[in-house]
Amino acid sequence: MMGSLGEQRWMQDEKFAKSTNFAQPDKATSPDAIPLFHARVCLTIKTNEAITYDHEYWGDLGPVMISKKVGFVGAGNMATALARGFLQRGLVAAQNISASDPASAARERFAQELPGAKVHAHNSDVVAEAEVLFLAVKPQVCQHVLRELKEHAAHPENILFVSMMAGIRLKVLRETLGSNSRLIRMMPNAPCLEGEGAIGYCASETAKPEDRELIQRLLESVGIVHELSEELLDAVTGLSGSGPAFAFLIAEALSDGGTLMGLPRGVATQLAAQTLRGAATMILNTQQPFSSLKEQVTSPGGTTIHGLRILEQHGVRGALIEAVQAATRRSKELAG
Ligand SMILES: NC(=O)c1ccc[n+]([C@@H]2O[C@H](COP(=O)([O-])OP(=O)(O)OC[C@H]3O[C@@H](n4cnc5c(N)ncnc54)[C@H](OP(=O)(O)O)[C@@H]3O)[C@@H](O)[C@H]2O)c1
Repeated sequence: MMGSLGEQRWMQDEKFAKSTNFAQPDKATSPDAIPLFHARVCLTIKTNEAITYDHEYWGDLGPVMISKKVGFVGAGNMATALARGFLQRGLVAAQNISASDPASAARERFAQELPGAKVHAHNSDVVAEAEVLFLAVKPQVCQHVLRELKEHAAHPENILFVSMMAGIRLKVLRETLGSNSRLIRMMPNAPCLEGEGAIGYCASETAKPEDRELIQRLLESVGIVHELSEELLDAVTGLSGSGPAFAFLIAEALSDGGTLMGLPRGVATQLAAQTLRGAATMILNTQQPFSSLKEQVTSPGGTTIHGLRILEQHGVRGALIEAVQAATRRSKELAG
């Protein structure tokens, strides 16, 4: 209705009166927090009968760029995926991103994928300017890299360190970087490389609420993110860290089944993968219990219940539960 009436007419016609109030955006809690947009529109139209519309709108104004300098020690797969996510979401400007890696191939790929970002051969160059520093190297080089960071960070307390090194506990990071250092430990998974990750993270007691808020926002650019206590990160490793391999195995077996029944391999693989993706989307979007989702697609005496009987007969459910348990135990063992 508003669209059909010109602004001029609103102003001139005595039959119409309007009042519109736009509230100021709510005050942000930190410089990098997302400001909320809040508007109340109150409109009274006086024709033969007075009609009053009174609506309130709440929403965010979209991503607000983070002004901090973000560095990566190690410019490999995960560093590139995270930096790409930050850039694509408009969270960090390319000129505020830098990465260091002794491997020239990794530096070249990072620079190619992130035009405008800086790359360095020496970690000291990244440490010198980073305010948020992702440790994106393999756990095998952890001690060497931590010593380097300690040596080159003039004020370690001014840096938020974010480690993704599998199995490296906060205690180990604290021992080298200092008891006052602000630390985050995260466990990403391979689908982060496609912006569809599942990530668990924990924060040291010294990390500030705004550090957690910042990390949550950054990591959400590559997937679903949960803050947890550190004891639970082994379970995250067992479920979402190892889970992609379990899902690949299930997809492969479904594709084999389709091929056995005569589908061309390429078609069977696409149908299998899309079925897993579609089912995952239904779980996340509807938030219905598994039992009711399963019931909706299982008609009495139909095809699905015949298939499910075979899965139960072969103990597939128990096998997957135990796979997560075994992977979690192994993660605990490796962390020592
Ligand atoms: N990718 C995943 O799916 C995944 C999942 C969960 C956790 N993570 C964790 O994420 C971290 C990074 O994994 P990624 O897959 O990105 O590994 P990646 O692709 O191998 O990247 C690591 C990079 O660090 C470089 N590097 C080696 N020593 C270094 C040093 N002293 N200083 C700076 N850079 C150095 C490596 O170079 P070289 O190749 O020459 O050694 C490599 O380019 C690992 O700790 C891993 O446990 C990864």
